[in-house]
Amino acid sequence: MDDRSGSPEVARLNPGVAHNARVWNYWLGGKDHYPADREVGERVFGMFPNIVHVARADRAFLGRVVGHLAGEAGVRQFLDVGTGLPTVDNTHEVAQRVAPESRIVYVDNDPLVLVHARALLTSTPEGATDYVDADARDTATILREAARTLDLTKPVAVMLLGILNFVLDTEEALSIVRGLMDAVPSGSYLALTHPTLELGGEANVEAMRFWNEHATPPITARTGEEIARFFDGLELLDPGLVSCSLWRPDLLESPVQISQYGALARKP
Ligand SMILES: C[S@@+](CC[C@H](N)C(=O)[O-])C[C@H]1O[C@@H](n2cnc3c(N)ncnc32)[C@H](O)[C@@H]1O
Repeated sequence: MDDRSGSPEVARLNPGVAHNARVWNYWLGGKDHYPADREVGERVFGMFPNIVHVARADRAFLGRVVGHLAGEAGVRQFLDVGTGLPTVDNTHEVAQRVAPESRIVYVDNDPLVLVHARALLTSTPEGATDYVDADARDTATILREAARTLDLTKPVAVMLLGILNFVLDTEEALSIVRGLMDAVPSGSYLALTHPTLELGGEANVEAMRFWNEHATPPITARTGEEIARFFDGLELLDPGLVSCSLWRPDLLESPVQISQYGALARKP
């Protein structure tokens, strides 16, 4: 753990209560978590062992989507909201491997992600990275801060991976997507993943209830139909909205369906 005791972000950490960014890092096999995070992580795993596959498949989806965007699609700007703790192959690393001039802005509201943000700011000299400590609901701040690094008159890939499930009100979640996508031009993209009780996720009901009683922030699942609404007005790329593990899987993988929808869409 990074020790910066006394700093304002450390004062916000609240190690006694499990936080999503840290438990997600635990499921991913990372090292940035406290006992309370590990305890909740283990209890959820006991009720819903697939959670580990969900976390890993979600990150693998990120790698394939960003690789496609920076490669064939030629996108050079990324706005990654709900970044999570740094792990292997963060968005800027994948994008800048393909196109070193890529510019990435990360956004999260978790204080430990802020503490570790410098690990996300290791840009190539040709490109740029920045980190914004903000709530996803505060799209005005996100866009204002992002504009210091990104040219919002040019296409941007907006990434909302595993985050809108923490915005419990669907209309509010839709307004976040609209607020961000309205601010970027034609040729921009939306990449999104979201947990569901479909696709074999029925067993997640108990685990989510447990999460909401013992951890923060509270979570909700959505149906495929509800998640499809986030893409209204956008053109879904093949294969559409699917288990994110089945979105253009690598040829050498034998992916199994998991209860996390994922899709990539282009703004016409
Ligand atoms: C499940 S993790 C996903 C991390 C990463 N996007 C990925 O796909 O691996 C969700 C992240 O969203 C962040 N988050 C949750 N609610 C948020 C909010 N209202 N505003 C900003 N970030 C939020 C959490 O702190 C956490 O880092």
